[in-house]
Amino acid sequence: MAGITDLIFVTGRPKRAIGDHLDANLELEFQLTQRGKHAERDMVRNIVPPGVNCIFIRQPEPKGLGDAVLCAAPAVGNAPFAVLLADDLMKGDLLPTLELVDAHHANPGTYLCVTEVDDAEVGKYGIVRPGSNGKLSVGGLVEKPALADAPSRLASMGRYVFEPEVFDILRILGPGSGGEIQLADAIDALAKLGRVKALPMSAQRYDCGSKMGYLTAIIDHALDREEFRERMIAMMRNRLQDL
Ligand code: G1P
Repeated sequence: MAGITDLIFVTGRPKRAIGDHLDANLELEFQLTQRGKHAERDMVRNIVPPGVNCIFIRQPEPKGLGDAVLCAAPAVGNAPFAVLLADDLMKGDLLPTLELVDAHHANPGTYLCVTEVDDAEVGKYGIVRPGSNGKLSVGGLVEKPALADAPSRLASMGRYVFEPEVFDILRILGPGSGGEIQLADAIDALAKLGRVKALPMSAQRYDCGSKMGYLTAIIDHALDREEFRERMIAMMRNRLQDL
């Protein structure tokens, strides 16, 4: 995806299942082969696409998104990298990570994926303070502001591309909103140096950190897949008749 071949997962102690899910499962592959279930076996075998390398890092304490990104520093090294927040699920022909990586190739720097949100949503996101250097420039980022303090309605949406300089800022950042080390505060510092640009996203986003967003994502993805579509529609029609 977007030419990225090394995936670094920063997780906590209760999330070991993620590593297990992405690991090879030779026993299951063998059983599926024995039963002639070759399509299912290939699905299990290709959970991680060929040529892609997974690295797992534990964040010892849940000290915030900025701290989680800093945990990845030894694996990232001195190279630009993308950050994808797993609870922001994206769907569309043009996915934000690809758009951000392309923009970075054309003009290196820090990039945020953004979209307009309603007043009621402002307090859930990092909100962009527009910069003075053109439409896409970011002058600052405020983490989860009160509506009265929000500098715009442009919210950052869980996809970023960074230069490794962000690690230097994260190392010296103190706790911010919610007492956590906030990635948004590091972005704010970079923005004040004129290093950050915003890219409006064209994809559909699901907030899988909320129950409703998670349910919507499952139903929507099922409707997109031929193997489920007809049965899903029939089930929904039946269910609606009962209401
Ligand atoms: C995080 C970030 C926030 C960003 C949001 C996008 O918040 O801290 O700046 O706007 O993701 O989903 P979280 O949703 O983890 O509370």
